[in-house]
Amino acid sequence: MTSQIGVYGLGTMGSALALNMAENGITVAVTNLEPQWISDFMVEAGDLAKSITPFETLESFVSGLKTPRVILFMIPSGKPMDMMIDAVTPHLEPGDTIIDGGNADFHFTRARTERLAAEDLHFVGMGVSGGENGARHGPSMMVGGSDHSWQQLRPILRAIAATYEGDPCVDHLGPDGAGHFVKTVHNGIEYADMQMLAELYSLLRFGAGWAPKEIGTLFADWDKGPLKSYLFEITGKVLTYDDPASGKPMVDVIKDAAGQKGTGRWTVVEAVRMGQAANMIEAAVGARSWSSEKDTRVAVEARFGGDLGALGLDADTLADAMMAARILGYAQGFRILSAASDLYDWSLDYARVAEVWRAGCIIRSALLDDISDAFRGELPHGELILSKVFSDKLSNCLPALRKTVSDAIAAGHSVPVLAASLQFFDSMRQGTGTATLIQAQRDFFGHHGFERLGEDGKHHGPWWD
Ligand code: 6PG
Repeated sequence: MTSQIGVYGLGTMGSALALNMAENGITVAVTNLEPQWISDFMVEAGDLAKSITPFETLESFVSGLKTPRVILFMIPSGKPMDMMIDAVTPHLEPGDTIIDGGNADFHFTRARTERLAAEDLHFVGMGVSGGENGARHGPSMMVGGSDHSWQQLRPILRAIAATYEGDPCVDHLGPDGAGHFVKTVHNGIEYADMQMLAELYSLLRFGAGWAPKEIGTLFADWDKGPLKSYLFEITGKVLTYDDPASGKPMVDVIKDAAGQKGTGRWTVVEAVRMGQAANMIEAAVGARSWSSEKDTRVAVEARFGGDLGALGLDADTLADAMMAARILGYAQGFRILSAASDLYDWSLDYARVAEVWRAGCIIRSALLDDISDAFRGELPHGELILSKVFSDKLSNCLPALRKTVSDAIAAGHSVPVLAASLQFFDSMRQGTGTATLIQAQRDFFGHHGFERLGEDGKHHGPWWD
């Protein structure tokens, strides 16, 4: 009997996805570079093993698949993916599909798609969000590739995806790199949202003197209202834990140096490449980078002092500030998606992207349903912040964001992403901005010329007369 899909790579995500498929009645062939992992996995599969066929060689694994074949690779992105493509393609036939389910740079995905298309093979770049638990019980999946591949993948992925009110959180979002790009931007938004939660925590703890557990309870409370989101849920939980070894709050024993695998950075790089700005995401990436310079920060604190002033902010003000900033974070993410969709001709359906993110993924939140409605309705200039629902929310919550950021800055607190959100908004709400002077400067030193208001053509200033 041949299997409906092959999963190559039985690490955390690969095994979880294979078990999820088996549990949903899909027959799966599995294999892995290290044979020991295969037998361990089959033991872990327990009763589900009856839907799973293990193979020790790539050739036998491929021949154990129904044609046209679909093979999901869950391996580190980059070189290993190219090596596996080289290894597997001699065993494949026209019409077969290779899927990269890792977080890959979409430029590589586009190049691989083109390369394989020359051999009549299909390449799918699929963003998978939700971590191990999501992969096992219902991830959100962002698929980029051909219609041919999607037709085969659709029933399998819809069966294993998270659902939001019955709608599976997976879709074919566009060709070649579209899925991986949407996942990259998802991660950019994730970085900004995580950092904002860290900033709120810091203001409450070091500005208002709240204990971690009290903040955890507050976040859990917010998670029951309009700020509901997976990140509030888990952050609330994290803050209630004590370290079993020292008895201190867990958050006090973890080294304050954040890691990053690169997707947040890719979002910023791509935004800048397209002439866009993603200042909230950049601020979040920057905050992680600065966090990793622990020794330098200790030295700078020793020289300048690290005192933080007391803050009189109440919880409701912070909640509104977070609401405004979160809306602006999503808005930035969708602006980048829109720029990429135009540039690469992807015709992204932004409402559908929001719907795919409503469950299973890390940035799922109560706002995504409204975001999808906003994109399906009248949206002036295609800007989320101009939709009825979000412009109303922003109008209500902006005073709180302004107060939070200004009080925080005046008291010496570091709030890079909250501040960036306000700067983004304040720049965008100026119909007339400061670029008049920039244009004059450019013309003065470089004779670059400028447009005059209400007049066509290129003009120069009197400094050239
Ligand atoms: C997800 C996450 C996930 C993330 C990794 C590492 O959607 O499940 O975004 O894919 O990329 O957890 O992220 P960083 O190391 O970049 O924080």
